[in-house]
Amino acid sequence: MAEVMKFEDFKQYLNPVFYKHTDLIAKKAKGCYLWDVNGEKYLDFVQGIAVNAMGHNYEPIVEAIKAQADDLVNASFNLVNYESTLMLAKKLAEAAPEGLTSVFFSNGGAEATDSALKLAMSYTGRSAGIAFMGSFHGRTCGATSITGSNSKYRKHYEGLMGNVYFAPYPGRDLCPPEIPGEKRGEYSLFELKKLLRYIVCPEDVAYIYMEPVMGEGGYVVPPKAFMQEVRKICDENGILLIYDEIQAGFGRTGKMWASQNFDVIPDIMTCGKAIAGGLPMSAVITRPDIAEKWPVGTHGTTFGGNPVAAAAGCVVLDQFKDGSLLKNVNEMGEYLRSELKKIRAKYPIIYDVRGLGLMTAIEFAYEDGTPAPEVWAKVKAGCFKRHMLTLNCGVHGNGMRFATPLNVKKEEIDEGLRILEESLAEIYGK
Ligand SMILES: Cc1ncc(COP(=O)(O)O)c(C=O)c1O
Repeated sequence: MAEVMKFEDFKQYLNPVFYKHTDLIAKKAKGCYLWDVNGEKYLDFVQGIAVNAMGHNYEPIVEAIKAQADDLVNASFNLVNYESTLMLAKKLAEAAPEGLTSVFFSNGGAEATDSALKLAMSYTGRSAGIAFMGSFHGRTCGATSITGSNSKYRKHYEGLMGNVYFAPYPGRDLCPPEIPGEKRGEYSLFELKKLLRYIVCPEDVAYIYMEPVMGEGGYVVPPKAFMQEVRKICDENGILLIYDEIQAGFGRTGKMWASQNFDVIPDIMTCGKAIAGGLPMSAVITRPDIAEKWPVGTHGTTFGGNPVAAAAGCVVLDQFKDGSLLKNVNEMGEYLRSELKKIRAKYPIIYDVRGLGLMTAIEFAYEDGTPAPEVWAKVKAGCFKRHMLTLNCGVHGNGMRFATPLNVKKEEIDEGLRILEESLAEIYGK
């Protein structure tokens, strides 16, 4: 029998900058579950980092991928058009918030971020921009320049793209402790206005860039009034509002787009992750009047708009048609948070349970709010021992995000909750 591969034997060939959460070598996966090369089964509540909206290897997606790969894998969307990619552009334009009907395809989230930045600068003829402390937009130089979810992402890269100014996102970590939760939006707005009054002239600002619900920074849901005020500031000053829907979009928050939770339509939005059923793809979607002013050839890509990814993308979008998937996201999200709150009643080290739809996280902290990353590290190890894959969020390494598939079943959530509770019981001896 062939020897089973071990990660240890291959690690030396990988650049260590690539942080690894586990040493698992994944062999196959289906729905909520993943099997490694040893045949061990894991409950996967990471799902490629909120990528697999329909769970692993959803059959209609796999079928579409196979059919498209049989016909054509790549000829470059620069040179020719593809049926699947044209169809996906149309479907995205129809599904996007009103007026956003022009699509540019790229290959990953960060690339979409860079594209949106270039578009905003090109359209406005301005070079300054405002982003939010706490936000994450990707790892390319452009995306890193507007990322403020952890200084380690910028370590040794200072002198990135210039003219980016940061305002605090209205989250607990980013506002003074004496500001109560319901006032954080006002505080952030005050800081944003200060920035525009004292530091950077609104007439020089091309964009305000934000995650409509903060992902990697800690699954923070901003107040609606704050989001609407930011829209107003943009309108009054000719600033483009860019929403990063890469993690929060595609139904994750219980609405098709996170922006719909706030009744705000951005000028530009980026999407990625869930867009193509697990294949690399991303998109920048904007209004035609903005898109038209991006001079032809000033931006482009070799791989963007790949037909195989687009074929998968068409199937993903079709899943939202009858509303049952979003219904499941809302019901399961409510259920997950209500059960997590019950666990919190037993284990107050769970300081917070928050989120929208299936964008839900818990935070481990002591009674006075001091983060407890060491507890989360133990819980995470306990979950892994019990064969559940989990993921962090938040700058302090004390947040646990639940990125289940959008079609997750109650029994699967129950299984994850049981594992979480057993891991906590092991630590606290209950
Ligand atoms: C909100 C958000 N924007 C951008 C990105 C970057 O996407 P990618 O890793 O595909 O470049 C991520 C990835 O986690 C994200 O969550």
